[in-house]
Amino acid sequence: MAKASLIMIAIAVLVTCLSSLASAAEPPHYTVQGQVYCDTCRVGFQTRLSEAIEGAVARLTCRNRTTGEVTLSEPGQTDESGYYNIHVDSNHEEEICEVTLDSSEREDCNEVLPDWYKARILLANNSISGVTDNYRYPNTLGFMIKKALPGCAQVLAELGFLPLN
Ligand SMILES: *[C@@H]1O[C@H](CO)[C@@H](O)[C@H](O)[C@H]1NC(C)=O
Ligand SMILES: *[C@@H]1O[C@H](CO)[C@@H](O)[C@H](O)[C@H]1NC(C)=O
Repeated sequence: MAKASLIMIAIAVLVTCLSSLASAAEPPHYTVQGQVYCDTCRVGFQTRLSEAIEGAVARLTCRNRTTGEVTLSEPGQTDESGYYNIHVDSNHEEEICEVTLDSSEREDCNEVLPDWYKARILLANNSISGVTDNYRYPNTLGFMIKKALPGCAQVLAELGFLPLN
């Protein structure tokens, strides 16, 4: 009885060792998750009036640091909360990767802002105390609305950008 359970433990340990060896040899898997907003105040940053955009397309692009050759170009579409998920299962650790905005589903909000349409992202293992988180979160991105909402003056005043009266 005791001998049988020892053998079981030995097998369990062996299986665990083998599977961790196997996973170490696998290519890394990352999920790049970010959010796309409509900048309803035309200010170039997120405010409380910003709206998540559903159906926007963000694109993850990785390039060789020296040659600039594109090694990955993967689109992701946003859900109703403005979130996209782009899955990566190849190694781009030594490369320059960034997320840019491809398209917006909103006719009234599809202008691209020079400073708010791309975000750098590092696709390298940053294991904290042995725990590897496979999610990577780039900064939020935004399209600019054609005409600012009426409430924007108030919002900017709250942020200290304009006098209230
Ligand atoms: C990251 O993980 C991959 C796959 O597990 C491995 O090949 C690579 O050497 C790791 N890089 C670092 C910096 O730990
Ligand atoms: C970048 O491209 C050069 C030339 O093709 C190659 O030698 C190098 O290994 C590439 N770098 C990476 C990180 O893939």
